[in-house]
Amino acid sequence: MEAADWDARYAQSELVWGAPPNSTVVEHVYGMERGITLRPDTPGGELPEHPRALDLACGEGRNTLWLATHGWQVDAVDYSQVGIDKGRTVATRLSRSVRSRIGWHCADVTDLAAAGITGPYELVLMVFLHLPAEQRRTVLRYVADLLAPEGTLLILGHDSINLTEGYGGPQDPSILFTPGDIAADLGPAADRIRIRHADRVHRPTEGRDAIDALVLATRPAPESAVEPA
Ligand SMILES: C[S@@+](CC[C@H](N)C(=O)[O-])C[C@H]1O[C@@H](n2cnc3c(N)ncnc32)[C@H](O)[C@@H]1O
Repeated sequence: MEAADWDARYAQSELVWGAPPNSTVVEHVYGMERGITLRPDTPGGELPEHPRALDLACGEGRNTLWLATHGWQVDAVDYSQVGIDKGRTVATRLSRSVRSRIGWHCADVTDLAAAGITGPYELVLMVFLHLPAEQRRTVLRYVADLLAPEGTLLILGHDSINLTEGYGGPQDPSILFTPGDIAADLGPAADRIRIRHADRVHRPTEGRDAIDALVLATRPAPESAVEPA
């Protein structure tokens, strides 16, 4: 789908993806905020007061708005101006301080540098963004380098097996992925990023469960300097 197709989809008055954030995002970011789940082995890995997040392909901003409400400073990027405008409209109902923490960017995620998106980020979300494999790989390697030390990359999307065993989602197998595909995409960045979790998640729907691929990766903290003896 092109940006114009997404604009047309978002042109309806209701929120296409609903107002609540994705529950898997909430589960893992909530743990991250408390220094658990994602960082069990990083003593002192506390987040700054207003940690920075990048929400790639934010759509109507359901995850962005939740993050900003929880104190995150968020750069929200999507190439659908209509989606961005809907997110902004929802944000007008929130407090000024929450709104001030969101930067809305109508831009293509395959050219984040042109959009002036620079890190470091404590969190990068890529949620239900389905790109052709080559583009996905390029974007993932790019954003891996935008992570702050101990920062987390959370990738969630329709798993390839959702087509045959799950429910809904895109029907084009070439843009779906498995946790293993994402791990392979990030492979060459192995010195800069560590896969913490790669698995499938079942998501209840009005039909049978949808099957999502979830990968969490963390940029290791620089090795602490060794004191001379
Ligand atoms: C299924 S929606 C997911 C929206 C949001 N992440 C969520 O979970 O609510 C996919 C989004 O990807 C955006 N998108 C697709 N390709 C893009 C690209 N190359 N650059 C920026 N946004 C893109 C679309 O405009 C759409 O809003």
